[in-house]
Amino acid sequence: QDTEGAFLLERNPDCASHDERAGLIAAPGFGRVFTDHMATMRYTPDRGWHDAKIGPRTGLDMHPATKTLHYAIEIFEGLKAYRLPDGGATLFRPDANARRFQSSAERLAMAPLPEQLFVESVRALVRADRDWIPSAEGASLYIRPFMFGVDADLVPDPASEYLYCVLANPVASYFKSGDKAVTLWVSDTYTRAAPGGTGAVKCGGNYAAALVAQAEGKRQGCDQVVFLDAVERRWVEELGGMNVFFVFEDGSLQTPPLTGTILPGITRDSLITLARGMGLTVREERYGIDEWQADARSGRLVEAFACGTAAVVTSIGEVKGREQAFTIGDGGPGPVAARLKSALTDIQFGRAPDPHGWLDRL
Ligand code: COI
Repeated sequence: QDTEGAFLLERNPDCASHDERAGLIAAPGFGRVFTDHMATMRYTPDRGWHDAKIGPRTGLDMHPATKTLHYAIEIFEGLKAYRLPDGGATLFRPDANARRFQSSAERLAMAPLPEQLFVESVRALVRADRDWIPSAEGASLYIRPFMFGVDADLVPDPASEYLYCVLANPVASYFKSGDKAVTLWVSDTYTRAAPGGTGAVKCGGNYAAALVAQAEGKRQGCDQVVFLDAVERRWVEELGGMNVFFVFEDGSLQTPPLTGTILPGITRDSLITLARGMGLTVREERYGIDEWQADARSGRLVEAFACGTAAVVTSIGEVKGREQAFTIGDGGPGPVAARLKSALTDIQFGRAPDPHGWLDRL
């Protein structure tokens, strides 16, 4: 029997044909086209993790009282598989995603998934669907592990039984505008995370609570929203699903510190390492929205960019809000963002050495 670690492989008898797959990979959009298979695994208190399987991607049958539908007992991750120049494939830092998944589980009182099972599930799914990894420039296979409580009752206590799943979808650029700089809307009505809340973990609820702000930003003609801290409404925290960096005229970089209300992005962490390796100073320090506006106007701030697994590195060109309107640099993509993006993606796509051991070749 075909297995990858604990994962048994049951091939999908109705896989997409070569031509169908090629058509779907050519214009995937983000998160809309899925591969032939999915990974699943169950947890019950008496059996622990069991029934680990890579099988045909199908719908899920759920009792309407499934706790998660009522109390959002759900966490997820995002990572990518990349096509290498020799035709092989690699994952990028799946162990870091596995650890973050564990801390998300802990925060939501869910059963932690052992790191090895997380990595094995992702490896097994990508091996089954490796033909779905795009080879076009900048395209990759986005992998979405997620887990939720399946107890069918309305009692608002921690779930005891879980379903863990992994989906994969081919992706190109996250933003419709491609590599252009994006425009941000400063959310002064809504905040994303409060001290003691869930801002530092990856649970669906954080994203649900951010959607109204994102919609407001869209109505204002912006691509993304930027959230301020919930206490003083002054400090820049993160965007709706990505971290933020600032670049100053002296060449130094700054990013908000991980104070518990910001998601500890793996791209964020990798960029800090790469920038320091280039000899650049990187500060993890708070930065106020008023300072951002003043520095952009005076020219002290020369660039800003968003980063995340989905967004990679995307320059921020303009910032708008009820009390803000400013352009960063000339409003276009900046050179430091471009240099860091190349350094990161050259490693991810196997075009440069991997001195930090971040790649997990399949
Ligand atoms: C990611 O970058 O992997 C994310 O989970 C962000 C999501 C909003 C697409």
